[in-house]
Amino acid sequence: MEPDTMARLAGNWAVPLGGDALFTWDYSAGTEQMLDLYSRGKQRQWDAELRLDWSHDVDPDNPLGLSDEFVWIAGSPVWERLPDAERVTVRRHLAGWLYSQFLHGEQGALVCSAKVVQSAPDIASKFYGATQVMDEARHVEAFQRMLQTKIKVEYPISTALGGLLETIIGDGRWDITYLGMQVMIEGLALASFSIQRDRMRDPLARALNAYVLQDEARHVAFGRLALRDYYGQLSAAELREREDFAAETCWVLKDRFTGEEMWRNLDHGAEECIAAANRSPAQREFRRRLFSRIVPTLKDINLFGPRMRETLRALGVLGFGKVDGAELSAEDERIADEIAEAELAARRREVSSAVARGAGPADDGEAAE
Ligand SMILES: [Fe+2]
Ligand SMILES: [Fe+2]
Repeated sequence: MEPDTMARLAGNWAVPLGGDALFTWDYSAGTEQMLDLYSRGKQRQWDAELRLDWSHDVDPDNPLGLSDEFVWIAGSPVWERLPDAERVTVRRHLAGWLYSQFLHGEQGALVCSAKVVQSAPDIASKFYGATQVMDEARHVEAFQRMLQTKIKVEYPISTALGGLLETIIGDGRWDITYLGMQVMIEGLALASFSIQRDRMRDPLARALNAYVLQDEARHVAFGRLALRDYYGQLSAAELREREDFAAETCWVLKDRFTGEEMWRNLDHGAEECIAAANRSPAQREFRRRLFSRIVPTLKDINLFGPRMRETLRALGVLGFGKVDGAELSAEDERIADEIAEAELAARRREVSSAVARGAGPADDGEAAE
């Protein structure tokens, strides 16, 4: 099989939408916290077209600047057997598989946040949801551009991600969409994007993920805010259903994001590659980051009963309940601001040196931003 020409999924994927669209006639309702989130959502929109330096050329052999530590099979007997040219293919495909999942996941978030707008019972949550719809559209745009113009290897949505999206979009209970998207899949996003931001060498990949993460911090805050109150009112039986859903999703997130489809496509012995990926230090880091984002939120929204704790103990991640989730989100915001500040300073320096060389100020709206 020619590995660079993965068949694209054609046409649309139809998923039945569960639940009711709710209207409200109380246009003044909404907590101060929710309105504050809405207002931050409005103010912190950014334009991927302008904010990122798309003129940057990535290394075509290693578009993310992956160190071998992040090639999941590095160090395994399969990797040792591979000639250099094949290792290049693995690095490119790993980047392509990952960013394809980011792209499809962002489209899932776009669809789910539109559902949040429809199903939220109060106007402030609908306002907030509308800002998230725009955030997710910008994320889709940015990841699509990165994938198509820089990485140039694309994969269809993974079975695990597709299955999760189908469940949370189709469920008629509005809170399951919130729990599935704003807590579980956003947790997956936070873990994956923070690894990209902190551990890749390519500056475009780092900046893109840092800016996206800044928005995701608001999305998780919404999930926490909306679900904390609601789950405080549910019966023990209703809570148990939510815990079961969360527990099942935790297992999927832990076990099913090892690039199965990609290893089968590359054909270097898929089972051996999947097993090596599963044991890799990079996957361990991913899981640590994943559960350090998800577990504190589960605790915060009251999905932390004995059964849930038992699952988390079995996963070996119960200790993350002590992590301060809000603190991690604040850190995401701060890092994105720092990167933006540094980029702005670099662009200002470029403009002044062009002026000093007599080239005149560049026609660059971004530099003046
Ligand atoms: Fe997003
Ligand atoms: Fe999001």
